[in-house]
Amino acid sequence: MRIGVLTAGGDCPGLNAVIRSVVHRALTGHDDEVIGFEDGFKGLLDGHFRPLDLNAVSGILARGGTILGSARLERNRLREAAESAPDLARQYGIDVLIPIGGEGTLTAARMLSDAGMPVVGVPKTIDNDISSTDRTFGFDTAVGVATEAMDRLKTTAESHQRVMVVEVMGRHAGWIALESGMAGGAHGICLPERPFQVDDLVKMVEERFARGKKFAVICVAEGAHPAEGSMDYKKGEIDQFGHERFQGIGNQLAVELERRLGKEARPVILGHVQRGGTPTAYDRVLATRFGWHAVEAAHRGQFGRMTALRGTNVEMVPLAEAVTQLKTVPEDRIREAESVF
Ligand code: F6P
Repeated sequence: MRIGVLTAGGDCPGLNAVIRSVVHRALTGHDDEVIGFEDGFKGLLDGHFRPLDLNAVSGILARGGTILGSARLERNRLREAAESAPDLARQYGIDVLIPIGGEGTLTAARMLSDAGMPVVGVPKTIDNDISSTDRTFGFDTAVGVATEAMDRLKTTAESHQRVMVVEVMGRHAGWIALESGMAGGAHGICLPERPFQVDDLVKMVEERFARGKKFAVICVAEGAHPAEGSMDYKKGEIDQFGHERFQGIGNQLAVELERRLGKEARPVILGHVQRGGTPTAYDRVLATRFGWHAVEAAHRGQFGRMTALRGTNVEMVPLAEAVTQLKTVPEDRIREAESVF
């Protein structure tokens, strides 16, 4: 079997572990050949690819990013890819394409699959917001980075009696804010799922100072927003690539809290630091399992599906099911977190 693999969308720690696992399983478990398309679907359309053998994937398990490069594809080029899907498969002689990516990539994968290309998807995103899989790799790494940042910020916040507003990633779902907020012992979290009241945060900080704890850390997801009328707030805008560009809720909230509290507040935007660097052991293992299962699914002819973690098992679920709606944080998970603020 000849397998094509690509990584698309935003990068994520663990992508290289999937590529490595696909190559190992394909070459040593079967007698397959693997080619890697460069820069996501662009490589598929433009004919940029290279053969991947065991040496090509040696030493990449612990490396962040992706050796294949990644890119987001404009909608018209995506349509172009879907229209020529069966021809592309024939042109490269691939029996299956394994695209590794987030919501956008999996939607594209579904389009290619519907158009007749044999596809087995592998989900990835640090946001952990893909439905149908309990976890995506990259998330554990991002939560670890944000947790460590909060641990560090607490000591400087305490020394200066400041309020630290830590902005983490999470456009539509607040999983990173929820779990790093809990693990990092934040005193408040703001998630996209539930508009926050600035009054509640002010009250929380005042109560802490009144009982002698003269600092606070608030963890806010980049996609969180205040409740209507809670504070003046500049919304995100859609950029030239069709992505929402937020106006920095962390900055805006820090300014507002400083004004209302009369205490120093500092914003810390963690940004792409959460996506870079070496994946955790958990993410390496999950990514490796996904790679193994993707190759096995291809050999069983389970196309139009993606790998998914269900409990402790990796299962194959229809791509159609995976991309219908995002997995957001349910209210009971927010209540659990709030109990320890
Ligand atoms: O979806 C993953 C993610 O890291 C989001 O959390 C974040 O909003 C977005 O990608 C950032 O995208 P870009 O790398 O294009 O700035």
